[in-house]
Amino acid sequence: MPYPRNGLGKSLSRAAIDYHYGKLYKTYVDRYNEGEGDPTFNEAGAFLHEIYFTQFRKPTNSNTPNGVAGEFITKHYKTFEKFKSEFEKAAMKIQGSGWVYLSDKGEIKTIVNHQIKQDIVLLIDWWEHAWALDYQADKKKYLENQWKIIDWNVISGRVGLSS
Ligand SMILES: [Fe+2]
Repeated sequence: MPYPRNGLGKSLSRAAIDYHYGKLYKTYVDRYNEGEGDPTFNEAGAFLHEIYFTQFRKPTNSNTPNGVAGEFITKHYKTFEKFKSEFEKAAMKIQGSGWVYLSDKGEIKTIVNHQIKQDIVLLIDWWEHAWALDYQADKKKYLENQWKIIDWNVISGRVGLSS
């Protein structure tokens, strides 16, 4: 990870990262490597967590999209506020375990359980294990706090790679 485990402030606590990154993510990788369980599921789980955990930086209150990512969001959603509201709507429709992401075409899409997708530029884990420890049932607060730690340089790189 490009930050220390206690480096994301209240957005994702040290305890949540120890559990989510240190245990769950590692389990997908280990089980895949050891041929345990469903290899497709474990491979996709490892793939998605890699994308998820490499897109964060230390939190700031004024963390808004800049550069290529900023232009991309403005092009597709006009404002960051509008984008966040659409993203939240899509996320809150997810039933059960899944993910929500911004695609390289500017669409907001969801993933059931784990699936490998090649068009992800920004990805939020919507499994209960991603938010329950820090946020109990307040998924909207979890999402709101993720916006404070998104490293928009990483997102710009992903947008740039796909265009
Ligand atoms: Fe997860």
